[in-house]
Amino acid sequence: MDPSTSANTAKLAGTQPPDIVVPTTNIPDRRSRLGSTNRSGSKVMTVAASLIVAALLGTLAFITRSESHQPSTGIARVGRLPAMGYNTWNAYYCDIDEELILRTAKLMKSLGLADAGYTHVNIDDCYSEKQRSSSGDIVANHERFPSGMKNLTDQIHALDLQAGIYSDSGWFTCQIYPGSYQNEERDAKLFQDWGFDYLKYDNLPLDSITRENIMGRYERMANAISDLARTSGKPPLTLSMCLWGREQGWVWARKYGQSWRTTDDINPSWGSITSILNQNSFITWASDFYGHNDMDILEVGNGALTYEESKSHFTAWALMKSPLLIGTDLATATEATLEILTSPEIIAINQDPVVGASISPFRWGINPDWVSNNTHPAQYWSGESQNGTIFMLLNTLDEPTDMFFRLTESPWIRAGRQYSVRDLWTHTDNGTAVRNLTVHAVPPHGVVALLLQDAGDEPAGIWPPCAVTEWCMYENGTHVEL
Ligand SMILES: *[C@@H]1O[C@H](CO)[C@@H](O)[C@H](O)[C@H]1NC(C)=O
Ligand SMILES: *[C@@H]1O[C@H](CO)[C@@H](O)[C@H](O)[C@H]1NC(C)=O
Ligand SMILES: *[C@@H]1O[C@H](CO)[C@@H](O)[C@H](O)[C@H]1NC(C)=O
Ligand SMILES: *[C@@H]1O[C@H](CO)[C@@H](O)[C@H](O)[C@H]1NC(C)=O
Ligand SMILES: *[C@@H]1O[C@H](CO)[C@@H](O)[C@H](O)[C@H]1NC(C)=O
Ligand SMILES: *[C@@H]1O[C@H](CO)[C@@H](O)[C@H](O)[C@H]1NC(C)=O
Repeated sequence: MDPSTSANTAKLAGTQPPDIVVPTTNIPDRRSRLGSTNRSGSKVMTVAASLIVAALLGTLAFITRSESHQPSTGIARVGRLPAMGYNTWNAYYCDIDEELILRTAKLMKSLGLADAGYTHVNIDDCYSEKQRSSSGDIVANHERFPSGMKNLTDQIHALDLQAGIYSDSGWFTCQIYPGSYQNEERDAKLFQDWGFDYLKYDNLPLDSITRENIMGRYERMANAISDLARTSGKPPLTLSMCLWGREQGWVWARKYGQSWRTTDDINPSWGSITSILNQNSFITWASDFYGHNDMDILEVGNGALTYEESKSHFTAWALMKSPLLIGTDLATATEATLEILTSPEIIAINQDPVVGASISPFRWGINPDWVSNNTHPAQYWSGESQNGTIFMLLNTLDEPTDMFFRLTESPWIRAGRQYSVRDLWTHTDNGTAVRNLTVHAVPPHGVVALLLQDAGDEPAGIWPPCAVTEWCMYENGTHVEL
């Protein structure tokens, strides 16, 4: 959660978490895992020697850091595809209890969401007591989770679903429940013992005490999770890193977890959707198997989003390989909401077993290419899939628009070929495209998602003789006059 939306950060001043000892000395650099780096020792060294040692330590630290979360021997890899499931935050914030979560899990089954691929039931902030137990463990809230977490996950598993839990890389969660800083091993073990296999890990730091950057605080939990996997022989917890887009998680977070939030919190408005889309349009390269840009919990079914806006939101999240976590009250979800959330050909792209990469913009459209604009993000996108090239067209305008593109604007399209067109929303085959495609009257804030499959050479005799006019020349080497 964004700090601005979290409970009164100012309250933190002077508050001391009950069961954590404030460290009085520098916290050792856990990253190097080389034992003490003994700073005072350098006094007796010559400058040259310390430089060499420092360089060596730096190199070793780099090696251990970069290798510590590689798929090393004996640890199963998890989270190859974007996670799909439910998360309690957008619909309920702190107002959660075991009954609600079980009811939601049952609705996921009865409404066909589980069959559509939504297998995770993830509990967000506010499930615990405000204080750890006398032995130091996080305690499930006695009033709202009277049967205990193990009981709850047993019942979730009995529905053939998986369960996710939440904590924070600082001393507190965003709503000022216990965070896991300095309790990483203990909490990872507890979450596993409770029966969870997925951990959303939030980002409310307390820098004056941790003296860490975000990467260092997340690495502590990543290490605890892989150590636990090694000692327990169980698969590691899937680590969903709620970084709010800070400190460029897309550059480094793949090493530690399976997804990382790329922006501040979403809200159920078109402006929020286009702003998240805009920011993510520049970092689509970061998503692939086992590591995904997390564009935040879905708002489909919430707020004032129109049908077209919800479709655009869902399509973009799915095709950009974001985790798909439902965030609406399922008991009151409309037919339209469920239709969008279960759209099979859109979900299939998100869960593509062969191509892990996101779609990317090939033309921005309203604005020149590469312009960052939260109201008018890139409109023309394409990418590879198991079955062919995917196109996504977004109408960011407030009125219907015809949208035109030349097929070869996408790198996945071959010049001189024609392509069959499949509309992934209407589930119809829409003929064959030669050289270009126009979609008429795309609704305001609407989306078009297409699959183009190679259908052989283009028909003979089209003028000009080449799809890309820039390269248009005769066999004798003269340019074709156009
Ligand atoms: C879970 O708790 C409920 C109510 O406390 C109880 O009826 C049920 O038997 C428990 N289920 C399991 C699987 O332990
Ligand atoms: C590819 O096509 C097959 C057969 O229609 C389908 O089952 C599968 O889901 C498609 N894959 C993707 C990634 O869309
Ligand atoms: C976003 O793009 C539109 C269309 O080009 C433009 O009118 C608007 O000023 C831009 N907004 C910002 C904040 O640059
Ligand atoms: C494809 O055809 C269907 C059925 O005629 C139509 O509803 C849909 O709008 C078409 N899609 C495109 C992208 O033109
Ligand atoms: C689109 O491609 C067709 C050939 O299929 C061509 O006749 C037409 O001129 C093209 N339109 C534009 C605007 O390039
Ligand atoms: C090259 O070939 C084209 C098409 O056959 C022809 O029109 C043109 O005159 C030729 N140019 C030369 C310099 O031979």
